[in-house]
Amino acid sequence: MRFLEYRTAEQKIKDLLLIQPATTALQQVVNILYEGFEKYSWVGIYVVKGNVLVLGPWKGTQATQHTKIPLGQGVCGAAATSGRTELVDDVSKDKRYLSCFLSTRSEIVVPIKKSEDVLGEIDIDSDRPAAFDTNDVVFLEKVADMLSSHI
Ligand code: SME
Repeated sequence: MRFLEYRTAEQKIKDLLLIQPATTALQQVVNILYEGFEKYSWVGIYVVKGNVLVLGPWKGTQATQHTKIPLGQGVCGAAATSGRTELVDDVSKDKRYLSCFLSTRSEIVVPIKKSEDVLGEIDIDSDRPAAFDTNDVVFLEKVADMLSSHI
C-alpha cells in the first residue's frame, strides 16, 4: 500500500528541496509522489527545451515512448502552451491524449512556472478512472511552485 497525506508529502518535498542539489532533487520528488500515492501509477517531469518537452526524471512500472513531445501536442503540450493545469478524467474521451500505457485511465498535467514562463511540468497517469480531484490539483500546484527554482 502506498499512502501519504497531501500535507505530509508537501512537507517531505519542502525539506528535501532545501538540502538537495537540483540534479537529484527532481528524481527524489518524483519518487515521493510515486511512492506516496497509490493512485499515481506513473509520475514524470518534462522540461521545456525550445519548442519541445523533454522527459526528465520519472518513476513507474514502464518507460514511455514519449520522451520528447512538441509543445502543440498531447495533454502535456496543451498544459505547457496554456500554462494551466490539465485534468483528464477519461483519457479515452480526450482527442489530445497521446497514449503511453494501455492501463492509463486518467491523467493530470501541472505546469512548472516562473512568473508566466512555463519551464516544465509534472505529468501523472493513473490506472484509475477520474483519479484526480481538487486536492491533487492544489497539492501538485504547490509542488510545481516549489520545483520552479530547481529546474
Ligand atoms: N499522455 C501524455 C503523454 C505523456 S505520457 O502520459 C507519459 C499526453 O497526452 O501528452
